[in-house]
Amino acid sequence: MELVVEAKGALRGEITVPGDKSISHRAAILGALAEGETVITGFLPGADCLATVRCLQQLGVEIAVDGGELQVKGAGLYGLKEPDNVLDCGNSGTTARLLLGVLAGQPFFSLLTGDASLRRRPKGRVPKPLQEMGARFFGRQGGNLLPLAVQGGSLSAVKYKTPVASAQLKSAILLAGLFAEGETVVTEPEQSRDHTERMLAAFGAELGVGGTTVRLVGRPRLKGRAITVPGDISSAAFFLVAAAIVPGSEVLVRNVGVNPTRTGILDVLRRMGARVDVLHSRSFGEEPVADLLVRPGKLRGVEIGGPLIPRLIDELPVLAVAALFAAGRTVVRDARELRVKETDRIAAVAEELAKIGGVVATTEDGFIIEGGQRLAGGCADSRHDHRMAMALAVAGLRANAPVCIDNAECVNVSFPDFAATLARLQE
Ligand code: S3P
Repeated sequence: MELVVEAKGALRGEITVPGDKSISHRAAILGALAEGETVITGFLPGADCLATVRCLQQLGVEIAVDGGELQVKGAGLYGLKEPDNVLDCGNSGTTARLLLGVLAGQPFFSLLTGDASLRRRPKGRVPKPLQEMGARFFGRQGGNLLPLAVQGGSLSAVKYKTPVASAQLKSAILLAGLFAEGETVVTEPEQSRDHTERMLAAFGAELGVGGTTVRLVGRPRLKGRAITVPGDISSAAFFLVAAAIVPGSEVLVRNVGVNPTRTGILDVLRRMGARVDVLHSRSFGEEPVADLLVRPGKLRGVEIGGPLIPRLIDELPVLAVAALFAAGRTVVRDARELRVKETDRIAAVAEELAKIGGVVATTEDGFIIEGGQRLAGGCADSRHDHRMAMALAVAGLRANAPVCIDNAECVNVSFPDFAATLARLQE
C-alpha cells in the first residue's frame, strides 16, 4: 500500500490513539499466566499484539478478542501446554523476547520464528541470562537469530546486570524469574520502561524497585484482573510532532499513557520550543494517563543522549523530522539500539528523508541534523517499519510537494487508523 500525504495547512482537533503496544503485550501475557479471568479494555488490535495473542492461544490459553477488548482465561503459572506447531511472532520483537522469558520456564519444547525482518534482528542478549537460569536454546549463530528452539525447565533465580537499557530484555528475565525459586534481580545501566514491573505488582507479585534494580520473588500467585490500556504515547508522538511543526496547529490527544519512563518526547518537544500542555492527569490502574495539547512554537535544535534515550527510543525517527524544521543543530547520540529495531533506523532516517529532500548526517550511535531545511517532497520507502512510515508521513505535512510512502501497510503494526486520523485533523 502507498500512503500519500500533502501539506494542507494547520492541523486542528481532538483525537485518541490506539492502546499502548508495550502494555497490551504485557497484559495479554500476564493475563495468560494468572489465575482467573483478565479482561483487557483498550488493547491494541495491531499486528504485533495479535501475534502475542495467537502464540498464547497456541500455548493453550483461551483468549477471546473483540476489537480492543480481550477476555483472557488465565492458565495459571503452570498451565501452559506444549505447542504443536511453530510459534510465529510476525514482525514483533516484543512478542519474541517476552515469550522467550515465559518459555524458558516451561517444562516443554517450543520453537519461535518471525517474519524476514524479525529473523534478522539479534536476539542473543535474551537467551544468555535465561541460559544461566537453566533453559536451553538452539538457533543460528549460536542462538542469536530466530528461528529459536527452546527447551525450558526448572529455573534458578539469577542476579543479572544487563549490558543495555532494554525493557524487552529486563522483562524476559523477570518473566522467567516468575518460574524460578528465590529472588531474581535485574540491574540496568539506565532505566528502561517499567510497565512489566508495575503490572506484575498489580497482578500480585512481590517486587521491589530501587534505582535501576528490580527484585522479583519467584513463584507468586498472579490473580486475573481488569486492565484498561492507556493510549500509546509512541503513536501520539507522530501527531505531537505534527502539531509542533505545522504553523497554526492545535491538537489534543486524549487518554495518553504518560509513564515517566516513556515521556522523553514531551521533554524534548518542550526544550525545542513547542507548547506542550499535560492536562487532566489521572491514572488507569498502575499507569499514569493525561490529555496532551500541543501547539507550535519557534523550534530550535537540541542535544539528545544519555538516560533520555530509553525514554524516547521509538520516537527518534519522528523527532528527526522535527529537527529538520528547527533552527540550529540537533544531535542524537547514545542511540545505537536504533540499528537493531524493525529496520536500521539510523540508516533509514537518513536515506529515506534524503529521497524527499532532507539532509541527515549519520553517526555510529545517532544522527546530526542542521535545521531550517525545506523538503521538496517525492517518494520514500517505509522499509516495512511502521514508525518509519508514520515519521515520513509527518514530514509530508511540511513538504513543498506531496510525499508518497511505499510499503505503508506496516502502520497496522501499531496504528491501523493512522491515515484516517491524520486526514481528520487536516479537514
Ligand atoms: C519495548 C521496548 C523497546 C522498544 C520497543 C518496545 C517493550 O525495545 O523499542 O518498541 O515493549 O518492552 P528494547 O527493550 O529492545 O529497547
